[in-house]
Amino acid sequence: MIPPYLFAEISRIKAEAIASGADIIDLGIGDPDLPTPSPVIDALTSSAHKPETHRYDETPRGWVSYLEAASDWYAKEFGPKLDPATEVVQLIGSKEGLAHLAWAYIDQGDIAIVPNPGYTVYRVNTLMAGGEVFDVALRAENGFLPQLSDIPSEVAKKAKLFYVCYPNNPTGAVATSEFYRDLVAFCKQYDILLVNDMAYATVAYDGYKNPTVLQIEGAKDVSIEFHSLSKMFNMTGWRLGFALGNADAINNLQRLKSNIDSKQFPAIAEAGAYALKNVDNTETLAMYQRRRDLLVDGLNEIGWEVTKPKSAFYVWAKVPRTDMSSAEFAGELLKKAHIVAIPGNGYGTEGEGYVRMALTLLGDTDGSRFKEAVRRIAESGLVQTKR
Ligand SMILES: Cc1ncc(COP(=O)(O)O)c(C=O)c1O
Repeated sequence: MIPPYLFAEISRIKAEAIASGADIIDLGIGDPDLPTPSPVIDALTSSAHKPETHRYDETPRGWVSYLEAASDWYAKEFGPKLDPATEVVQLIGSKEGLAHLAWAYIDQGDIAIVPNPGYTVYRVNTLMAGGEVFDVALRAENGFLPQLSDIPSEVAKKAKLFYVCYPNNPTGAVATSEFYRDLVAFCKQYDILLVNDMAYATVAYDGYKNPTVLQIEGAKDVSIEFHSLSKMFNMTGWRLGFALGNADAINNLQRLKSNIDSKQFPAIAEAGAYALKNVDNTETLAMYQRRRDLLVDGLNEIGWEVTKPKSAFYVWAKVPRTDMSSAEFAGELLKKAHIVAIPGNGYGTEGEGYVRMALTLLGDTDGSRFKEAVRRIAESGLVQTKR
């Protein structure tokens, strides 16, 4: 869980800096800064005028045209064609689905294997559902992929879920098909549901294309994948996602959800279907890529060695000091350079020693704020510069 004091301290320094008139560059939260493409808003408006969207969505797994669009989009992007009637479920954002999956699967004493560092939702919901968490470390020397040999067989035998997330938040790492193949075999061996969180599936640079777990032969026997419209179409506020994969897993998640929520506003689902069919996000990706290059190349030039992510919109940077923790360094960055970065230990103990900087900066049009961030970091003296 995110240690509350950590964010409280950053928020306090940020509030003080803003009050004193400081010009803050906030690389904290990852939330697309461009608006939702206007044709999607137009699609919402016209669907909202259709009376059939005003009533409960009584379908079992979601608005039919949306599930079909999701299944078609997945086949076009990644290859496998899943049955929209049985192998796809609509979600109120992928966070909702990832959280409820733990409630659907975890009973007292069950284990979920979760990445550390990782998106906190997997861990927190497993614990709230009465389960136990087994942390599997993501380390730079292993490309931030979990090492299956780190998981004792007694743990694997008690595990119900194995959460992974690629492209990864917070490390920006990507998976390989070989890794997915081994993971599928592991989950089959121990009868664990493999959960791949692909919220950033199509947010990728330099023409890179992410592999998916469902591309692996036989993966559907043990896997469910979560997708989101939030990041790819600048739709975080709309709350729309979907999961697809193993029909039993889809059904279990849907059964739990049907007791809790009554799905998203159908007009939003119809606008989502429109986005999945029509929206091309190439320009937005080019903008993130430009920012990534300005930030990462700039930091490397001033002596802070940072890796360029191929995908997602986070730069995961090793704290360039031996005398400061992640939280101390983030605090100094805020005080001296007026830049907000998230201390890595907010994502788990293995995140200590890192900070995360997002490429989604409201108000930046041409990357100049990222250049400015590099200039300020150089000037702060927090990084030993080459010059
Ligand atoms: C790794 C990861 N998964 C899932 C989500 C949730 O996205 P949404 O609920 O907007 O689909 C996020 C949001 O930041 C995320 O970083």
